[in-house]
Amino acid sequence: MPHILVTGGAGYIGSHTVRALLSAGNRVSVLDDLSAGHRETVTDDIGFHRVDLVDEEATREAVDDARPDAVIHFAGAIEAGLSMSEPARFYRVNVLGTFHLLEALRHNGNPPVVYSSSAAVYGNPQRTPIPEDAPKLPTNVYGRTKLDTEGMFEAYDRAYGLRSTALRYFNAAGAAADASLGEAHKHETHLIPLAIQAAMRGTPMTLFGTDYDTPDGTCIRDYVHVEDLADAHVRAVNALLDGAASAAYNVGVGSGFSNREVLAAVSRVVGKPLDVKEAPRREGDPAELVANSTRISAALGWSPRYANLDEIVGTAAAWHARRD
Ligand code: UFG
Repeated sequence: MPHILVTGGAGYIGSHTVRALLSAGNRVSVLDDLSAGHRETVTDDIGFHRVDLVDEEATREAVDDARPDAVIHFAGAIEAGLSMSEPARFYRVNVLGTFHLLEALRHNGNPPVVYSSSAAVYGNPQRTPIPEDAPKLPTNVYGRTKLDTEGMFEAYDRAYGLRSTALRYFNAAGAAADASLGEAHKHETHLIPLAIQAAMRGTPMTLFGTDYDTPDGTCIRDYVHVEDLADAHVRAVNALLDGAASAAYNVGVGSGFSNREVLAAVSRVVGKPLDVKEAPRREGDPAELVANSTRISAALGWSPRYANLDEIVGTAAAWHARRD
């Protein structure tokens, strides 16, 4: 039974992936500093290391102790908007933290790694849907740190033989089908959970930017269900354990929805009107991000089970209804 160490395993995508790994028969340990994650998602059958990857010594000790067969690396700062005003935090957590993890792994037999990259590495794409070999010109610091991280992994493979798979997620959304796990960020910045909360509570919400060069003037994103993302990680780690070479894959549904379409879906699903305040653009937001995910379908047999926006929003709304 392979032993998989999951950094950020108490977080949103991490906790869903841990569950999928356990169902597939793996042994799992979680490394998480709980700055954003939730201790209660880590059940008793899971080894737990409360560690901040910025702490090099603690990271080394946790990896020495776990001696994993493979790693899935989620831990990181994720809010694209905030990365413009707090770049230091993004470089410290995403770049330095990943470097400490890589160093610890290099001294523990180079177990292969699946790690969170992002559609944000592409910046404003020249064409959509975006293939993996499109130019990488991030428009925000978050995307820049993800691109830097990809560069580190490539260098560690070339020099030390540490294989890895970058999964460039588009917009993660939704919650577990049984509403037992969901998106519970302490400081929520994402469109779908904010809109659901606003609709349920009858409070106003902000729509950033209505003058983009898109059909309705608002940004377009590709929303991929968190359980489909979890499935992509399980497939990617299995491939690496079977000896696959390093690779990078987009993970998205392949169709985009504008912010206005998302708000309409939320209002429909929750059954309440939304009080939307239109505001200027949020710094660093690309106009349109839609994935071409044919590479991961061909290589790993992955395809999304959820492609319908109302269904994705529905799983998130069911989880919020249960929690609030
Ligand atoms: N938005 C609003 N109002 C809000 C929140 C967001 O209008 O209150 C808008 C944003 O300006 C953007 C869109 O909704 O146009 C989506 O924003 P999110 O913050 O939900 O998601 P992002 O696209 O900025 O970023 C997310 C993840 C990143 C990931 C990226 C890839 O946070 O980790 O998707 O597309 F890299």
